[in-house]
Amino acid sequence: QEHPKSVIVIFGATGDLAKRKLFPSIYRLVQNEKIGKEFAVVGVGRRPWTNDEFRNNVSDSIQSSLKESKDLNDFTSHFYYHPFDVTNPSSYLELNDLLGQLDGTYQTEGNRIFYLAMAPEFFGTIAQNLKKQGLTETNGWSRLVIEKPFGHDLPSAEQLNQEIREAFNENQIYRIDHYLGKEMVQNIEVIRFANAMFEPLWNNRYISNIQVTSSEVLGVEDRGRYYENSGALRDMVQNHLLQMVALLAMEPPIKLTTDEIRSEKVKVFRALRSISEDEVKNYFVRGQYTSGKLGDKELIGYREENNVDNESQTETFVAGKLLIDNFRWAGVPFYIRTGKRMAAKSTKIVVQFKDIPMNLYYKKGETVPPNLLVINIQPDEGITLQLNVKKDGDAGDSMPVKLDLTNDFLDGINTPEAYEKLLYDCMRGDATNFTHWDEVALSWSFVDPISEAWKKGKAELATYPAGSMGPKEADEMLEKDGNQWWPVN
Ligand code: BG6
Repeated sequence: QEHPKSVIVIFGATGDLAKRKLFPSIYRLVQNEKIGKEFAVVGVGRRPWTNDEFRNNVSDSIQSSLKESKDLNDFTSHFYYHPFDVTNPSSYLELNDLLGQLDGTYQTEGNRIFYLAMAPEFFGTIAQNLKKQGLTETNGWSRLVIEKPFGHDLPSAEQLNQEIREAFNENQIYRIDHYLGKEMVQNIEVIRFANAMFEPLWNNRYISNIQVTSSEVLGVEDRGRYYENSGALRDMVQNHLLQMVALLAMEPPIKLTTDEIRSEKVKVFRALRSISEDEVKNYFVRGQYTSGKLGDKELIGYREENNVDNESQTETFVAGKLLIDNFRWAGVPFYIRTGKRMAAKSTKIVVQFKDIPMNLYYKKGETVPPNLLVINIQPDEGITLQLNVKKDGDAGDSMPVKLDLTNDFLDGINTPEAYEKLLYDCMRGDATNFTHWDEVALSWSFVDPISEAWKKGKAELATYPAGSMGPKEADEMLEKDGNQWWPVN
């Protein structure tokens, strides 16, 4: 396959995302020969950096995150810096001149990616100016990559969408959800649709419940200001967790095309039972971490963190029970949970199968442990199947064992980073693993009543000590259904 060619313009090139994820991803794409020499990167930011300063920064980022320095000078020679004022039209005109020159130098065929990795309040302004000042008129294609947050509720997302749609068509817009770039998230589809063993059982006749956990050990770090206005619901549930639920619940697409897959995902969002403000307390638990301990490390509470109000009501943990009202899933709860400062960093999906009709092997009162299919997304990657086998010895007992398939078993797998895959997809024009506007809109309409109810104090804010697996209320939510969270580590 031919290498994709493009100039990549990064708005917010002096920021954290560019440094931690984007530069290393581009470097790996070059090292892995996914892209050739026909690329240039233009960093755009307010700071008055020179090309050299920018290139040093790029080098640092690669050395510190990948510990590599092969061909670094050659690589960074493709990087240019352009000081920029997002509201000033002449900034765009100058940028356009530079892009024109680079297109000639690097033979990028007029292809342009505009990557917005900066404060969301400027997304609309930038998109509109790109069009107005002629930056999107080239002989090749132009695409807009847009980082989260995509709005903070449905009305703000609609407004943002309208603004960017004035300048770009839906099929030029690549809304990033980096979870969709994770190897094992992409694997959900394959596990489901390429195995004769699972798909026939993948419904309410055989599945008791599905659990999706994404727990983090880190606290809010230096993002207090952002997080105070976001909380776990907007930061993680509206996007990453709901996307995983959609992939788990969707019908098999008739073809593996972007449109077919998206349309199946959209149907899941449409079937998601909406929760009214008054019902929120029955379906969702919100929590905030207080001081605690992880190993020997003393951890402060959320309210003591930098840039956090000392009476903050922001949730750092969310657990929820989702119901999908369609033929396949009626009656099967999808439990989700996510939080900061929990006991483990882990993203995991547990599919719990229903109990067998009769218990031959366990003593009275005991139940046979259910079969579990566990999809490990991170930090381990792989799948585990929990089955029951005969216990050693001659008693008529059985016991659960785990069949493990981790990616380490597979030869030569070196999982690329999510951003690397997504950037490459965008360069090739494959939008499958990006979120369509319809998905964004439907997920906000699901989430909005929940944040509204919390804002109005219609549900308690529970607490949990830092370093634990969340508030007891989240456990009780499952216990009421006769279920339990399966451990994540
Ligand atoms: C981001 C959130 O989208 O995802 C962060 O804004 C969170 O708060 C991060 O830490 C988690 O991503 P990952 O890939 O480490 O699970």
